[in-house]
Amino acid sequence: MKILVTGGAGYIGSHACKALKEKGYEVVVLDNLVYGHRGFVKWGVLEECDLSDRAAIEAVFKKHRPEAVMHFAAYAFVGESVENPSKYYYNNVAGSLNLFDVARLNGVRHVVFSSTCATYGIPNSVPIHEDHPQSPINPYGKTKLVIEQMLADYDTAYGMKSVSLRYFNAAGADPESDIGEDHNPETHLIPLVLDAASGRRPQITIFGIDYATADGTCVRDYIHVTDLADAHVKALEYLSKGGGTIALNLGNGKGYSVREVIESARQITGREVPVVEGSRRAGDPPGLVGSSDKAKEILGWRPVFGEIDKIVEHAWKWHKKRFGNYK
Ligand SMILES: NC(=O)c1ccc[n+]([C@@H]2O[C@H](COP(=O)([O-])OP(=O)(O)OC[C@H]3O[C@@H](n4cnc5c(N)ncnc54)[C@H](O)[C@@H]3O)[C@@H](O)[C@H]2O)c1
Repeated sequence: MKILVTGGAGYIGSHACKALKEKGYEVVVLDNLVYGHRGFVKWGVLEECDLSDRAAIEAVFKKHRPEAVMHFAAYAFVGESVENPSKYYYNNVAGSLNLFDVARLNGVRHVVFSSTCATYGIPNSVPIHEDHPQSPINPYGKTKLVIEQMLADYDTAYGMKSVSLRYFNAAGADPESDIGEDHNPETHLIPLVLDAASGRRPQITIFGIDYATADGTCVRDYIHVTDLADAHVKALEYLSKGGGTIALNLGNGKGYSVREVIESARQITGREVPVVEGSRRAGDPPGLVGSSDKAKEILGWRPVFGEIDKIVEHAWKWHKKRFGNYK
């Protein structure tokens, strides 16, 4: 079975390509390489294509005739989406519309979509379940919510079935270090903490130390990227067996505070992590932890690398592979 993976040259998409290939799927990556890496496309062919170019997408479908789509391609910087929503609505929403339309007109019935916990906004309660109201507080989250709704409408009207996977914080790297996290700019905590541990940046700033959490710092749900990739393959299998359109959280159900992540990095790297305590950032809720019970039940999925130390260990291995043994 041939799968088109948009954004397959990016962080999570490339891990999904590896997981797909290991399960015997044929992979075609559609990526414009705006943030992706040519070298991450190791488990399929790369079609350099922008989702704004409908004719180019059509040409990729005609050439490869994929049977299903995994849709990772998007812009995902929350701050930038607030400053420049136009860029986000065009790329994420209009790009997805082009993709889904070409897909349905070429007989694709199954889509697995990268949604996000950002569609929930500030949670009323944690852990967050799928039926929690979706009230995103930034354009990035809003674009993802619109795409989920678009997919629901495409099922009603055209019978296109989809699984929207609402990830919490993707983290870690391929255990074999074939690929890993490489965003530019990097905004995610673990690579930034490892940069501070290795001396690539002078320090890590903790934004807020007076939250109502056990140690006063924000708590987030980190999910290993290999576990995420596995869930995508299982979502595809669920659709292949006749499963209906659904949205599922993907987290590991456990929250870790910023200080716990830093402590884990200190232990795994054996190095000090210089820390600066800063003030809170607007829009940062104290705790964002998801319940993934539904994904476990419906997909038969289980996170294998749920412990923060494993996540940091794999991220550190990848960090050293990329940058060498600093200091
Ligand atoms: N990283 C996380 O923690 C996280 C959490 C929740 C949701 N997500 C979602 O997961 C997906 C993947 O995230 P990631 O961290 O791997 O990001 P990434 O930037 O590494 O990957 C995105 C890929 O999409 C490509 N792309 C973007 N716009 C495109 C376009 N118009 N045409 C073709 N290709 C395009 C980029 O070149 C890149 O390779 C995104 O949709 C993101 O919103 C990520």
